[in-house]
Amino acid sequence: MFKSFKQYLTELKCAGTIDAELSLLLEAVASLSKDINDKVRHGELVGVLGTAGTDNIQGEQQKKLDVISNEIFVNGVQWTGSIAGMASEEMDHCLPTPQQFQRGQYLIMFDPLDGSSNIDINAPIGTIFSITRAPATVDEVTDESFLNKGREQVAAGYIMYSPQTILTLTVGEGVDMFTLNNNTGEYLQTRSKVTIAPQTQEFAINMSNQRHWEAPVQRYVGELLAGKTGPIGKDFNMRWVAAMVAEVHRVLCRGGIFMYPKDNRDPSKPGKLRLMYEANPMAFLIEQAGGVATNGHENILDIQPEKLHQRVAVFLGAKEEVERVTAYHKN
Ligand code: F6P
Repeated sequence: MFKSFKQYLTELKCAGTIDAELSLLLEAVASLSKDINDKVRHGELVGVLGTAGTDNIQGEQQKKLDVISNEIFVNGVQWTGSIAGMASEEMDHCLPTPQQFQRGQYLIMFDPLDGSSNIDINAPIGTIFSITRAPATVDEVTDESFLNKGREQVAAGYIMYSPQTILTLTVGEGVDMFTLNNNTGEYLQTRSKVTIAPQTQEFAINMSNQRHWEAPVQRYVGELLAGKTGPIGKDFNMRWVAAMVAEVHRVLCRGGIFMYPKDNRDPSKPGKLRLMYEANPMAFLIEQAGGVATNGHENILDIQPEKLHQRVAVFLGAKEEVERVTAYHKN
């Protein structure tokens, strides 16, 4: 007998782990993810494939599904009375909770549709979210209100749209997973207290960027490729799904290391992934599962954000390997 997400949240509330506002917010996220899931599953039949004809603040072409998912997310959480505002990878600035809705004590940040390049080829994509407390002292939240270290997150997770739709969540007490029953529309708990083995023989990196990497990453990946006869002394396998949600899900399920290092091509971009919408929530999940997440120099959760759409290098997963590549950066 699987436990429903509703029961799971109720138990956390009764135990005093989360309050009613956070519980309602998490329920709202689970609920809106079913609407996004519905669009994803029907694709061309409901006209959601292809580009939207607009760019986001980072100059990336938005897909129709990016824009639709963003709208579903905003509408799905703004009424809850749980949030003082939200920030999205797809919106230039934060959105304080509109006047007609009650303001709550939390902030939510999200990437409504991660892995956009997978949309049109029916490969895994996802939604990522991160929740912190709102500053109690300001009347209306601004972009600055969101610039908190990842350690201050009270909850984070993702929903992965793939053969199965899976919601993965941490509220700071381990990592749990819920599978959507498409017949009943209910998320049911299928994994609890997921842990990542400290050792691994699997890595994920976009090898096509190799010539742009810095020396520590060149060295580390060179050693992985050298296999048994190299300094690490074991053979590694490689995977690349091109959606962070799917890479992190694989690492949580069977271990491994995922890397998106700094790229020398554009010095204004210290990495590709976004700190607030991607790296922080994923780092919270990874640490809660016993793994490590760094930018090569410090733990991602300890980085003081300077701007909402900040990018960051990411090395996450199996403790032994993330520590190895981080040590190479220190050398
Ligand atoms: O949001 C950025 C993202 O789509 C991640 O989900 C994914 O890990 C990465 O970009 C894929 O990058 P690339 O296009 O280099 O394969």
